[in-house]
Amino acid sequence: MSKLALSIYGDKVLREKGEEVDDFGEKIRYFFDNMVETMIVEGGVGLAAPQVGVSRRIAVVNPEPENEKTLIRMANPRIIATSDETETMEEGCLSIPGIRGDVIRSRAIEVLYQDEEGKEYKLEAEGLLARIIQHEIDHLNGVLFIDHLSTAKKLLIKPKLRKLREGR
Ligand code: NI
Repeated sequence: MSKLALSIYGDKVLREKGEEVDDFGEKIRYFFDNMVETMIVEGGVGLAAPQVGVSRRIAVVNPEPENEKTLIRMANPRIIATSDETETMEEGCLSIPGIRGDVIRSRAIEVLYQDEEGKEYKLEAEGLLARIIQHEIDHLNGVLFIDHLSTAKKLLIKPKLRKLREGR
């Protein structure tokens, strides 16, 4: 396994809509392995393919980084239901280092996804796991957590974002 280079805010790929996966098998398995390795090394709880420069609908999530059993590999994840109840929690993103902010998201979701072999799963998630999945699916649509911040907070982080963009 090898660690992949992270895309940082300002990289165009972070704003692109990822392509569906239909070529399951060896190559996708290998890519998932490298995504997991990268997430672990970078200390994240989730990672989406655009964050390593690949515009495809692939993400890995693990709310408990130390626990291999809670790791989920998702291809083509799709939210099919959301709770009316929302929750506010502070988020960050490996592609936007140094910035954190409160994001309102659905407290619970139902999601469909495929594994590295193309097998389909349905998952009901809530709390932190639901939040991470929503954050990663946003990435697959070119959406970043900073897009969800309040207008005041957006203004506040503007200079930092400019620095990130220019410092790439
Ligand atoms: Ni992120």
